[in-house]
Amino acid sequence: DWEMELPPRPKLFDFHGVSMTNYFTDNWDNVQNFQARPDDILIATYPKAGTTWVSYILDLLYFGQTAPERQRPIFEKVPFLELLIPLYPPGVEVLDNLTTSPRLIKTHLPVQLLPKSFWEQNCRIVYVARNAKDNAVSYFHFDRMNQAEPEPGDWNNFLQRFMDGKMVFGSWYDHVTGWWEKKQTHSKILYLFYEDMVEDTGRELDRLCSFLGLSPSTEEKERVRGGVQFDTMKKNSMANYSTDPVMDFKISPFMRKGKVGDWKNHFTVAQSEQFDEDYKKKMENTQLRFRTTI
Ligand code: A3P
Repeated sequence: DWEMELPPRPKLFDFHGVSMTNYFTDNWDNVQNFQARPDDILIATYPKAGTTWVSYILDLLYFGQTAPERQRPIFEKVPFLELLIPLYPPGVEVLDNLTTSPRLIKTHLPVQLLPKSFWEQNCRIVYVARNAKDNAVSYFHFDRMNQAEPEPGDWNNFLQRFMDGKMVFGSWYDHVTGWWEKKQTHSKILYLFYEDMVEDTGRELDRLCSFLGLSPSTEEKERVRGGVQFDTMKKNSMANYSTDPVMDFKISPFMRKGKVGDWKNHFTVAQSEQFDEDYKKKMENTQLRFRTTI
């Protein structure tokens, strides 16, 4: 069965100053030479910040709910640029062969590693960021259930690694601030917050549409908003990753909780204090602010 065919969990290593596994570096030359198209829309995130949510929103906004060719899992419709893993075709190859327009492209790359073609073509980029504590918790459960991720170890250990930036795709702190700085001088980046999306999905949908130059009818917007609610997406086999062979939903579902503040169920008081103190130091040079509750 498929579990037997999966390679052992990958190991982290340093790659241009960023922790990575081979699944995101093995295709590096092709990734760096990737040819973007001017109407491509890039969805950039640190893992577990709301990538799938925003991907599905964009998919519905551009292609609607009914088109038969869209009845495929979200991870096929929104290809993962840097992915090269057994059981899947390489992200770059899938993207090169895509004829639908616009192409919706997923990446977790930190801003300094993005292929230059995206800047040359001046593509629109939607970045989603999530507060560090919830992001860490979500990442922990993801690494438990995903055989393509390094062993998470126990929560205390994992949290320490998160603070040390020893995660796949590197430091959360560097990722969110790197993209934030880039956005200050680059108008084609929309910087969204997971917390804002949970608080008022309709409002963030409006921001997204105005950034993309879309003007859906009120009815269409309501349809999208309904389709991307947590409970609806969790039941939707095209959006909930239930067809992904590397994930074990018996350990934890992909659509896990979808909440702001779940960190309170995981962090001890001591962990939270230590985390906050370290956070202040790491984030002292940025204006970027997150909410850990709403
Ligand atoms: P939790 O593990 O906290 O539940 P990504 O897509 O970047 O991997 O992020 C996954 C996280 O986004 C998970 O967080 C998942 O539940 C959450 N998520 C996905 N769709 C969502 C939605 N429609 N509403 C709220 N959260 C959502």
